[in-house]
Amino acid sequence: MPPKRPARPPAPAPRPRPARQPPRPAAPSPPPAAKAVRPPFRPGADDVLSLFAVAAPGLEKLAAQELRALGLEAKAHSGGAAFSGRRADMYRANLWLRTASRVLVRVGSTYAGSFSELRDKAARFPWEAYLRPGQAVAVRVTSHKSRLYHTAAVAERVAGAIGDALGQEAVLQRAASAEAEEGNAGGNAAGEAAAGPAAQLVVARLVDDRCTLSVDSSGALLHQRGYRLATAKAPLRETLAAALLLASGWDKQAPLVDPFCGAGTIPIEAAWLAQNQAPGRARRFAFMDWPDYEAARWAALLAEAEAARVTGPAPLILGYDRDAGAIGAARANAGRAGVAQAVQFGEQALSALQAPPGRGWLVTNPPYGARVHSGGDLRDLYAQLGHVLRAQCVGWQAGFLCGDQALARASGLRFDLGRSLHLLNGGLPVDFLQARVSAEPA
Ligand SMILES: C[S@@+](CC[C@H](N)C(=O)[O-])C[C@H]1O[C@@H](n2cnc3c(N)ncnc32)[C@H](O)[C@@H]1O
Repeated sequence: MPPKRPARPPAPAPRPRPARQPPRPAAPSPPPAAKAVRPPFRPGADDVLSLFAVAAPGLEKLAAQELRALGLEAKAHSGGAAFSGRRADMYRANLWLRTASRVLVRVGSTYAGSFSELRDKAARFPWEAYLRPGQAVAVRVTSHKSRLYHTAAVAERVAGAIGDALGQEAVLQRAASAEAEEGNAGGNAAGEAAAGPAAQLVVARLVDDRCTLSVDSSGALLHQRGYRLATAKAPLRETLAAALLLASGWDKQAPLVDPFCGAGTIPIEAAWLAQNQAPGRARRFAFMDWPDYEAARWAALLAEAEAARVTGPAPLILGYDRDAGAIGAARANAGRAGVAQAVQFGEQALSALQAPPGRGWLVTNPPYGARVHSGGDLRDLYAQLGHVLRAQCVGWQAGFLCGDQALARASGLRFDLGRSLHLLNGGLPVDFLQARVSAEPA
């Protein structure tokens, strides 16, 4: 378990916000210089921020559970989990979340019925806490049931508002859509490629003419933990691998086997989970470039994470793949993740699997046609998986990701559909199916 946040001291009296300027007459527009006149306001370290952990479809509840384990009240929504917390809580969420893609900080929300209204009102938000004058921004816009539906024009006005607030024009870069980012499994996300490393991602969401503006505190997507530089066929995102492990209910003590481990993502995430390793401890985050970044606070969180590491008896974690290149990649990744000793990898086909005695978990991502062709008949492979489990793993928990119901049925496992997760992997709908292995086929 990650360390819960310490009990809060009594909340300080809210700092007075500068008075809002009265609404301006609709026309004529004031000269640009007038827009920059605004008393500075920055949320302080103890101000409560409105936060949102973005999660891939199907992972929202797991992300909310993870936030609750951090001592934060969170509610799952479509697309992620909403929570509130102070600046340190936002740092902590980035450091510890295994299943979320990003953490957004809401900067402000306003009614915006016209482009000029959007620009004027957004310029009053406290951008100076998150951006420096002249900094590059990538504005990602979604619009539903709103008069402002031209997303490129909205992005331009938001960038303009940021420039007005900071007194220097913000350089607008192209932002990848959330769909493009989520559909790009495994590799570098299109968002990072399009926006460039220095651009601050700003998210604008218009619903019923209300525009909510948020800044991304994470930077590179959170699945980019830093260890998986080597990949094999159809790699699973680290966030998805962690989600499968959490959903499987693995107790972090019994043996865990992945017979189709590819580049080792599931076994490596399992080792980090068992050791209670903070997944974000070795990477950079966008918030580290913000004007109000508190390096000492981050260092304290890292020290707390180090102290929370589990160093006791380690569970047996086994990863196999018949492909020698995949096993080479898995070993290199495990070395970078610091878990080379905690995971045993072997080049071996499913047919040669020797499961350890006693109770255990099998969590895996077998080939399922659309992404990986194993060469032979995939139905035979799934039938073989069921056969191996019934022969060696009665009483085990088995869970696998599969995009094809007919293949899943070929395993002969009796799935507990109440425990299934419906997900997207690389843009394709897939299910994480789970069963308790019994001696007889279904
Ligand atoms: C979808 S990939 C797994 C990706 C992995 N989760 C990752 O993150 O890299 C499926 C893997 O199954 C392996 N495979 C296919 N048939 C196999 C078999 N009969 N025995 C063992 N491995 C097999 C492939 O080599 C491939 O690496």
